[in-house]
Order: sequence, then C-alpha cells, then structure tokens
Amino acid sequence: MGLFNVYPLFDITPVRAQDVYLYDANDTEYLDLYGGHAVISIGHSQPLYVERLTQQLQKIAFYSNSIQNPLQEEMASKLAKLSGCYDYDLFLCNSGAEANENALKVASFVTGKHKVIAFKNSFHGRTSAAVAATDNQKIIAPINAQQEVIFCELGDIKAVEQALIAGGVCAIIIETIQGVGGLDEATTQFFHQLYSLSRKHNCLVIADEVQSGFGRTGDFFAFQKHEWTPDLIPIAKGMGNGFPVGGVLIHHDIKASYGMLGTTFGGNHLACAAVTAVLDVIEHNDLMKVASDISAYFIRQLRDIPQLRQIKGRGLMLGIEFDFPIADLRKELITKHHIFTGNSKNPNLIRILPSLTLQRHHVDTFIIALKQALKNSNK
Ligand SMILES: Cc1ncc(COP(=O)(O)O)c(C=O)c1O
Repeated sequence: MGLFNVYPLFDITPVRAQDVYLYDANDTEYLDLYGGHAVISIGHSQPLYVERLTQQLQKIAFYSNSIQNPLQEEMASKLAKLSGCYDYDLFLCNSGAEANENALKVASFVTGKHKVIAFKNSFHGRTSAAVAATDNQKIIAPINAQQEVIFCELGDIKAVEQALIAGGVCAIIIETIQGVGGLDEATTQFFHQLYSLSRKHNCLVIADEVQSGFGRTGDFFAFQKHEWTPDLIPIAKGMGNGFPVGGVLIHHDIKASYGMLGTTFGGNHLACAAVTAVLDVIEHNDLMKVASDISAYFIRQLRDIPQLRQIKGRGLMLGIEFDFPIADLRKELITKHHIFTGNSKNPNLIRILPSLTLQRHHVDTFIIALKQALKNSNK
C-alpha cells in the first residue's frame, strides 16, 4: 500500500529531535524555526514531558469518556490558572479543526441558527464546518460548500453588521492573528465592535487560538491583549507539544447537556499527561516571558535587514515580509543553512513559529543565514 499523496515533501528525514533542533540519520542538525506548523511549544523531547508521558503510558494510556478521569480536571484547573480564563469550561478533542468544528456546533445549538461569519484569508481546519469557514476554495469540497458562510474583510465592521442584520448567523469565527493567511490582525476596536454586535444579534464569537494560543505570543492567548471575552476559544497545536490534542474553552454562560458534544479519543490519559506537562513547563520556565523577550530581540535583529518590508505578528508568531516571493529564499534556508521556516498564503512572507525556548544564538544563526541567502539571490 502506498501513501495517499497529498503533501509535497522536503527530502529530509528527521529521526530524532531535541529542543529547537531536528537530526537526520547522518546526524545533520536542522534549526527548527517552524515547530511543525506551530506545534512545538516547550521544545522537542523536553525531558519533563518525556518523563510524564512515559510514566503515564506505563499506568494507563486510554479509556473512553465513560469513566472518571481526574487527569482532565487537573489539566483544566492548571489551564485556568495559567491563562486566567476562570469563566470557562473545557471540552477536549483531538485537533484544531475538531476544536473549531465543536465550537461552531455549540454556537449553532445555543442560538438555533446556522450561518457563520468568517474573514478573508482565514484558516480554521479541514472538517465540515471548519473548512467551510476557511477562505480557500481549493480545499472546500461540494459536501462542505452547502454550509452558509459569509466572508468579510478583516476590519470591515459594516460588512459584518449587514450580514448580522440579514439574520440567521450563529457564530462569528476569527483568528486573533491569522496564521496560514499571513499574520494579519484586526484592531482592538474591531474585536470590541464584533463582540457588541454579537450581543445585539444573538450570535456567539469564536476566537480561534489554535495557532496563537498556549503562550506563543507572550500572552497565554493572543486575544487577551485586546481585552475582550470570546464565547468560545478553540485550542490545539502548542497544547500538546506534538501529542495530538485539542479543546474548546466554553464560557460559563453556555450550559452543557449530556450528548451535546462527544468524542472517543478526546481527553484520554496520555493527552492529559502531555498537556499538563506543557502547562507545567510553561509556568516553571516562565516561557511566556521568554517568548516576549526573545521576540523583541528577534525583531531588533530583523530591522537591520534592508530588504525587509514589514514584520508582522507578535511574540514567536512572526511574519517576515519582503517585496518579492520568498519560495527560493526558504528553499535555500533549508537546503544550504539547514533552517526550517514556514510559508503562508502571502507569497512574500516567511513564517516563524519556533519553540518558546528559542535563544539569542538561534536568532543570530538565522539572521546570518538570511542575509547570506538574500545576497546569493541578488535581492
Ligand atoms: C488558526 C488555525 N485553526 C485551525 C487549524 C486546524 O488545526 P488542525 O490541523 O490541528 O486540524 C489550524 C491549522 O493550521 C490553524 O492554524
């Protein structure tokens, strides 16, 4: 049996990883500034994380959500403490798409409506409603296209209001900082306007923190900088540091009922051990502060590069924008300098999403490589 061929692959085969580095079978070292799509938060094979998962595996790895699992409550209370989100309950699932799918479903159950407002350049995942709310026609199959989604320009509050007045909207879904779309972020005023319109028109607001959450921006959640209260907060990626896990923080105003949501694997013992270890490491190593500090250093170093057009994003969720396409630059960074970076829908933008444990010397290595790659490509 072959593999269903949906991914264009780099010719690199990592066999082990440590902190911000990947290694192939020849022990060639790769600096990982991408964290496998923003997933690695506390570093590859972080010792406490490995120890906790190993111990958990030896005790019990999985049972379904039909028994008591105190590890879920322990994790939820740590999450509340670290994020400050005390007014929410947690539903656990397995990925970012599922987190958004469940958030949209809750909004539809609660309001009795079915339309969704999403934004241009959004990415919310590949399941039914999540992909319908994703601004990419190429990945929306006819079976998904039957969902009614209105795409507004980010920041266009008039368009949002018009869609709400037309009626039937159960949810507005927004990434606090767009990931795949290219690191654009709405203003604080826009988030506040969205929220107040949502109260007027009886719909819920979903802050998709799948990529920007879990300390990546220097705040636990990126929306917190804008001081508002989303109804639903989908999370995943950095949450498990590579263990597949997702969740939705659901505001206390929304009442649960048996059977409203459900999953076989979500919240299993191993997933809980992984997330609790991630939270402990973020707390004990002060990784949100580390991410803010190293981000400030990173941005200072980048400003030295004359070809740079703009730096987007916050913390360790950064976009480096040029006036020209970056595909060749990225290729040279990985093949010649052994540095992983990311791309986005914006062809001129390099995405940086490393572990929150990144240090100054890693940034220096990248800046030297970037300058050399720019010189070699006559940019
Ligand atoms: C903001 C955002 N939401 C949702 C998703 C989907 O997450 P997953 O690939 O875990 O389903 C992604 C993935 O890139 C994302 O960036």
